[in-house]
Amino acid sequence: MKIAVLPGDGIGPEIVAQAVKVLEALRADGASIEMETAPIGGAGYDAAGDPLPEATLKLAREADAVLLGAVGGPQYDTLDRPLRPERGLLRIRKELNLFANLRPALLYPELAGASSLKPEVVSGLDLMIVRELTGDVYFGQPRGIEVRNGERVGFNTMLYSESEVRRVAHVAFGIAMKRGRKLCSVEKANVLECSELWKEVMIEVAKDYPEVELSHMYVDNAAMQLIRAPKQFDTIVTGNIFGDILSDAASMLSGSIGMLPSASLDEHNKGMYEPIHGSAPDIAGRNLANPLATILSVAMMYRYTFADTATADRIEGAVKQVIAQGLRTGDIWTEGTQKVSCSEMGDAVVAAL
Ligand code: IPM
Ligand code: MG
Repeated sequence: MKIAVLPGDGIGPEIVAQAVKVLEALRADGASIEMETAPIGGAGYDAAGDPLPEATLKLAREADAVLLGAVGGPQYDTLDRPLRPERGLLRIRKELNLFANLRPALLYPELAGASSLKPEVVSGLDLMIVRELTGDVYFGQPRGIEVRNGERVGFNTMLYSESEVRRVAHVAFGIAMKRGRKLCSVEKANVLECSELWKEVMIEVAKDYPEVELSHMYVDNAAMQLIRAPKQFDTIVTGNIFGDILSDAASMLSGSIGMLPSASLDEHNKGMYEPIHGSAPDIAGRNLANPLATILSVAMMYRYTFADTATADRIEGAVKQVIAQGLRTGDIWTEGTQKVSCSEMGDAVVAAL
C-alpha cells in the first residue's frame, strides 16, 4: 500500500509525525506500507509557489491513500485567493473526486467531562456525518466579487446536480445500513431550490434501501438538535457547506475537535484521511497539539481503503487504551488526568499498539 503523506501547515507536521509513527509500528509488525511525503497548502506555496504543487497531486493520484495534516496560516491570508492554502485542499478533493466525506463523532466515556455539554447529553454518543465534499456553494459557478450599480457585490452559487446528490446518497445509505439504519438528510428545502432537489433525490434513493429509516431536517433545526439531544441521530447526510458547519458543532460533543478523524472517499474507496480540525497556528510548533484525530484517521484508512477491519480496530483500541490510562493533551485535559505533549501521546499510542 502506498500512502502519500501531506503534512501541510501549522500543527500539521507535528500531528502527522505521530500518525506516521503508528504506521511505522505497523510496518515493523509486517504491514507492507510505502510512504512518501509532499508539501501542500502554505507549505506547497512556499516550496513551489502553488498550494497544490503538480508533483504533490501526481503523488496523491498514484497513491492508494492520502494522509493529510492541516492547511492554512495567517501569513498566507493576504495571498491572492487561488494561491491560498485552503484552495490547495479544495483542489485536491476535487481532482481526486473525493465526494463523500465521513466525519464520525464518537464520545469516549472518559472524555464526557471534557465536552462543554452535560455528560448525560453526550455519553454514549456515536454519530456519523456524511458530508458531500465536491459540490455545493464551495464549487458552484458563477462566483466572484464585482461592481454592480456602483457598489461591490459578492456572490456564490449553491448548485447540486441530481447525480451528485445520488452518489453521496448511496454512500450514506450504505453506511447507515452498517450502523443503526437511521439516516437523517439535512437541508434547507423550505427556502432553497437546491435543497428541494436534494430532498427529492434522497427520497428516490431511499427506495433502494427499504431497511433504512429516512428522515429530513432543516439545517437550522439540525444545529439546534445536535446540541439539544445529539443521541437522536445515527447517520446524517448533508451538503458541503451545511456539513462543514454541523461537523464542527458535532465535534464539541465528543470533547474536543482534536479527537475527530475523517475520510474523504471516491467511487472506488480511494481516500484522503485527515483530522477535521485546522492548522491551529496559535499552538503550532510547540508540541501541544492533540494527534489522536490524525491517528484515528489512519484507523479509518485501514477500515475504508485497505478494508482491514482488524487493524482499524487495533488502532482504535490503542487510542481507547491511552485515554483509559488517563493521558491527555491540553485540549482534553481535565482535573485528575495526566497532561502529555503531542509526541508523548503518539509514543503512548505506539506502545499500546
Ligand atoms: C474542513 C475545513 C475546510 C472546509 C477549509 C479549510 C477549506 O473547514 O475540512 O472542514 O471548509 O472544507
Ligand atoms: Mg470545516
